[in-house]
Amino acid sequence: MARIAVIGTGYVGLTTGACFAHLGHDVVCADIDEAKVESLRKGIVPIVERDLDRFVTEGIASGKLSFVVGAREASKDCEFHYLCVPTPQGPDGAADLSYLEAAAAEIAPVLPTGSVVVNKSTVPVGSTGLVASVMGRNDVEVVSNPEFLREGTALDDFLNPDRVVIGARDQEAAIRVAGLYNRVHAPVMVTDPISAETIKYASNAFLASKLSFVNAIANLCEAVGADVNDVVLGMGYDRRIGKEFLRPGPGWGGSCFPKDTIALAKIAEDHGYDFTFLREVLKVNDEQFDRTAAKVIDALGDSPEGKQVACWGLTFKAGTDDLRQSPAVEVMKRVEAAGVKIRAYDPVVSSPIGDLPTAEIVSDPYAATDGAEVLVVLTEWDEFRWLDFDKVAENMASKVVVDARNLLDRSQLERRGFDYRGIGR
Ligand code: UDX
Repeated sequence: MARIAVIGTGYVGLTTGACFAHLGHDVVCADIDEAKVESLRKGIVPIVERDLDRFVTEGIASGKLSFVVGAREASKDCEFHYLCVPTPQGPDGAADLSYLEAAAAEIAPVLPTGSVVVNKSTVPVGSTGLVASVMGRNDVEVVSNPEFLREGTALDDFLNPDRVVIGARDQEAAIRVAGLYNRVHAPVMVTDPISAETIKYASNAFLASKLSFVNAIANLCEAVGADVNDVVLGMGYDRRIGKEFLRPGPGWGGSCFPKDTIALAKIAEDHGYDFTFLREVLKVNDEQFDRTAAKVIDALGDSPEGKQVACWGLTFKAGTDDLRQSPAVEVMKRVEAAGVKIRAYDPVVSSPIGDLPTAEIVSDPYAATDGAEVLVVLTEWDEFRWLDFDKVAENMASKVVVDARNLLDRSQLERRGFDYRGIGR
């Protein structure tokens, strides 16, 4: 078992640290935020992520997982150093590498000879080389090992991945990193660092393209009178297409897809390739926010201003408390701009939302529907399916539902006299 430093305790770092400790390695996680480190030492996990708090508590109890302030403190006596720092979108769309460079520069002087620095942050093609040059250590290898973790199922994705990708110039370093995953049953693919970095971006951009395609097909279904749910089911039986990632919705979002898709278009541009296709994928997504908002506004009739809308769901998808680039927020921003009053419920959101300054956040799904003319469902929380729609009908001023996730049972709602409007059906 190895001794691993994990630099950065965000979604990726904390999942990586907790899972490596679960696999039996000795893991030291570092962050610059002293208060966060203090909480993590007590097993307090600041994000909603299934099983993460349990893994962290178990790791601390077994002595396999510890938390320190500062990257140097973690790295000084470790064999592997996972860089899991944020790479936010910079002003020109390219990923901002300042955190990555700072972390690399910080640990460089203390790295034990022969150790391996592993880049897990999503970084532009060529960044593994950049980390190596920032560190200036010929006795240390730098390897790329991109993550493919979905929020909400991140631990399962780490422990049961479809593949482990390792990008290394040095064969021995690649084999050592592969060894960290000995207890994980998945194909391990070794390639050069630039190809590994490209695999990460290409995978995210492909999935985002798949979703924009499905949303475009949903719009086509509305035009021709087909039911998109049946259309994607029929498509998904074809193994070349696959059943996953075919759910139409209000648009796609989150902390990765928008940022990484924009970044890949920028990488292409910087290398002289005009990735028009990808820019269209992004455009289709923006249009989907607009179309979904227009559905809500249309459902309010001729003068939407001042009317009340109930919104169920605010996070970018179910199973997470993450509001970053949330399609729900994007749609409701547009609805709010039309002068509509919003009362919103989400099972994991209790504070006001900066991007929706006039929206009232309530702690009960029924309270959100009080006096509402339209109910819009924007995040696919399973609990919404099992609510009492007789009670919802009583609460609402007018019984119209815009189900932007095709989550609810249409016939059950129509039996209760609701005007049901889904996506692509
Ligand atoms: C994504 C990638 O899936 C993961 O591999 C990568 O490492 C990080 O980015 P995540 O951001 O957690 O993961 O979200 P994901 O589950 O992929 O969903 C992204 C968006 O697409 C969400 O807004 C979600 O609601 C939407 N989506 C997803 C759909 O609209 N329909 C689908 O069928 C699937």
